[in-house]
Parts: sequence; structure tokens; C-alpha cells
Amino acid sequence: MRAIVVETPGPAEALRTAEIAEPAPGAGELVIEVAYAGVGFVDTLFRSGVFDLPAPSVPGLEITGRVHRVGAGVAGFHPGQRVAALLNDFGRGPRAGGYAEFAVAHSSMVIPLPADADLAMTAAVLINGVTAWMALHDLARVDTSDSVLVLGGGGVGAMTRRLAEISPVGTVIAVASGRAKALDKPGTWIHLTPADLLERTVGEVTGGRGVDVVVDAVGGELRTRAWELLAPFGRHVILGNASGDDPVVSTDSAWHGTRQLMGLSLGGVAHRIPDRIRTVLAAVADLAHRGILVQNGLAVVPLDEVAEVHRALEQRTAPPKTVLAVSDFSAV
Ligand SMILES: NC(=O)c1ccc[n+]([C@@H]2O[C@H](COP(=O)([O-])OP(=O)(O)OC[C@H]3O[C@@H](n4cnc5c(N)ncnc54)[C@H](OP(=O)(O)O)[C@@H]3O)[C@@H](O)[C@H]2O)c1
Repeated sequence: MRAIVVETPGPAEALRTAEIAEPAPGAGELVIEVAYAGVGFVDTLFRSGVFDLPAPSVPGLEITGRVHRVGAGVAGFHPGQRVAALLNDFGRGPRAGGYAEFAVAHSSMVIPLPADADLAMTAAVLINGVTAWMALHDLARVDTSDSVLVLGGGGVGAMTRRLAEISPVGTVIAVASGRAKALDKPGTWIHLTPADLLERTVGEVTGGRGVDVVVDAVGGELRTRAWELLAPFGRHVILGNASGDDPVVSTDSAWHGTRQLMGLSLGGVAHRIPDRIRTVLAAVADLAHRGILVQNGLAVVPLDEVAEVHRALEQRTAPPKTVLAVSDFSAV
């Protein structure tokens, strides 16, 4: 089969197109023929070796497609069935990831999709949708009176804004990048602010009270500033450090400010709570199918252009989300 393989972790050029053996399903696993594979910033961390993954490996943690082969002990799936899946146990092993014609998934991380599901749009919302949903609901436990500050307008940030909007919460303030400004329609009730006006905007929108929730996949100085903008009993959810900077937040400041610092890593927790992940995955895919959860500015590119997508992610020039078109079986 055709796949993108990383022989040695390194820059984007490490992503090479190769012909490799089609994977076979182990017990409890499915082999899925990939229609679309999502690309996220996290893939660049695996590819470059920031996160350790035994080489050679096939990157890609989220796909849509159809079931090809069913492993021993798997019930409820059959060949040809359309599905969405989270893969590779989030990088725990050098398995057959999503940048390939066929990928292996554990059945606990696979959900069936309707026959008419939009497979590109569904692939675009899987990891970011599940992450954003769990940040808002499992951790921050938002309600309708909460003000939510979202840092970053990339994949996770865009999904968080949208899911907060439909949750609904009281107010959403989003730190606008150039892309976010372009993508949010005029008239939306979401308050967009350039980073340099963050304190002023939060002060104006919340009447000086501060925000109840921060959802933060960026880190760096934005994290430090957002932490100081929390209202009493505020919750700051850490999802990642796209800036590359993980600043220290003192526990004294949590105590003195009566605020909570919390974290979520799907990769760190998914294998321990598969039922919860699968439930949220199904909810997110259903919202996408009903057109409620959409990924604005979605780019669909051929599999062998993935190195260019990684470069753009690292240079902050990528669209909010890109999916790789792998196999087209829309007519089947
Ligand atoms: N916790 C989890 O389970 C989970 C799940 C998925 C992703 N993640 C993590 O979340 C992070 C974001 O992933 P993504 O796919 O959303 O990435 P992305 O699409 O590349 O978005 C990254 C965002 O961070 C912003 N950013 C990057 N560097 C910055 C800097 N120096 N200062 C200010 N803003 C900066 C970018 O702003 P601009 O738009 O202005 O460039 C962009 O909005 C990654 O670290 C990823 O590993 C975690």
C-alpha cells in the first residue's frame, strides 16, 4: 500500500512516500481503508522527535474511511462499513497510522458513521472536537453563565470556540490571529481580540470581573497573561504548548487567586478511559453530520503533499485544519 513513512525523526523532509505492506488486524483491532486523514500540530511533534515514537512509523492519529478487515473478538463492525477512528494509541507504538491507504485502529476507538456522512469534514473535527469538548465539559464544566477565553485560532482553538458557542456558554472571547479574524463571520457574538489588547478586551467584556474559563493550547506569555485574567473560582485548562514555551505557573498563585489549573492530554488518557472517549467521539461526529459542528477554512490536500502541510503548521501559515485525501470511494 501507499503510505507516508518516517524512517528517522527530523524536519518535514522526513515524511517520505513509500510502498509498504498492508497491515493485518490483531485481536480487538480493525483495518480501515482510509478516505481522509486529519493533520494536526501534534503530528509535527511526533515527526520531529519531540514526542518519542519508535521509527520507522506511519504518522496520523485520526481518520475516516471504511472497514477493510475485522480482527478476532471484534463485534459490531463489518467490511465496507463507514467509520471514524482515533489511531495508533496516540503514538504509543509504531503501528500503521493514518497517512496511508490502510490503517489499524483498536475497536474501542472506532465509531460507525452514517452512509452519507461527509468523510472529509468528519475527519477534520475528530481529535480537536473531542479535545475541545472534554476541555469545556469534563474539565471546566462550563455552564450558561460562564465567560470562556480561547487562546489560539488554529485547529483546537477553532473547535473550542465553536463548541463553546453551541454549548452554550455566556460569552466567548477569542484571541484573534489573522486567520481567526478572516474566518469568523461579522455579527458573530464571539468577541475577537488581538493579543496585545487582551487585558483591555477581557476587562470591557466581563465588566472587570475576569473570565471563568481559559482554554489554552498555546502556552508562552499568552498563558501567563490569561492566568492573571481569571475571575475567582476560574478554571484554566492546558491543552498544549503550540508556542513551544511551557511557562511555570506557581501553586501559590492558584491558592492566592482561588483558581484552578487543569490539564488534558488525549494521548495520555485515552487508553485508560476508552468508553468516555468513544462517547464524545460519537457526539462530535454526530454534530458534524448534522452540520452543527463545522471546521471553517478546511483544506483538503493530496496525501503526498503532507510535508508542505507540516511546514505550514510549523511556520504558522497553515489553514485552521487540513485533511489528507487518501482514497476516493465516494461512488462505491
Ligand atoms: N490536549 C490534547 O489532547 C491535544 C489535542 C490536540 C492538540 N493538542 C495540542 O494543541 C496545540 C495546538 O494544536 P493545533 O492542531 O490546534 O495547532 P495549530 O492549528 O497549529 O494552532 C496553533 C495555535 O497556536 C498559536 N500559536 C502558535 N505559536 C504561538 C506563539 N508563539 N504565540 C501565540 N500564539 C501562537 C497559533 O496562532 P496563529 O493562528 O496566530 O498562528 C494557532 O492559533 C498543539 O500543541 C497540540 O499538540 C493537544
